[in-house]
Amino acid sequence: MTGIRLTRRELLALGASSTAGAVASLGPFAAQAATDDIVSREAPVLESTVSMEVNGRPVVLQVDNRSSLLDVLREQLRLTGTKKGCDQGQCGACTILVDGRRINACLTLAVMHEGASVTTIEGLGTVAQPHPLQTAFVKHDGYQCGYCTPGQICSAVGMLDEIGRGMPSFASDDPAATPQTSAHEIRERMSGNICRCGAYPNIVAAIVETSGA
Ligand code: FES
Ligand code: FES
Repeated sequence: MTGIRLTRRELLALGASSTAGAVASLGPFAAQAATDDIVSREAPVLESTVSMEVNGRPVVLQVDNRSSLLDVLREQLRLTGTKKGCDQGQCGACTILVDGRRINACLTLAVMHEGASVTTIEGLGTVAQPHPLQTAFVKHDGYQCGYCTPGQICSAVGMLDEIGRGMPSFASDDPAATPQTSAHEIRERMSGNICRCGAYPNIVAAIVETSGA
């Protein structure tokens, strides 16, 4: 801080003339102080270098600190399989896996994931070797327009892992018991993934079949 103070009259004078001219009119020492003050206030750190693994490949990214992980995946890495629906955590279209856990990529900043392992729909399977859930979604017609599908499948992968680790849900009758992959449980656990086409029955059927229930 320089301690420089402007009166209301001086502030109006700054607005009425060019900033450079007004600062110069304050005298050499005050002008330097004002310049230092402006420089220090206008030089926040806006970018960071982040290293992570995306779909098994190490990447080093220069990211705007304000960028969501979703925007970085789609716009910098061109991994457009992950969709942006609401951009505020309500639809689940942007669901990906970070260190094996499902998250909404629109609700987290890329800069927060130094060293993370990120998996998107592009990393789950290939056309030649699809993930079992991808195969089941095709078999059961678990989509119509397909916009929600990458998020549904990534979410289902994370959800089945949660069941495998014994995590109860709001629908679990006994939170202490081993959770079941029933349609009732799956509907509750997948409730964060919205499908505007209403393909829910087929989505549940695909997940139930994949879970082996
Ligand atoms: S785009 Fe992230 S939850 Fe909708
Ligand atoms: S298939 Fe269209 S939104 Fe789900």
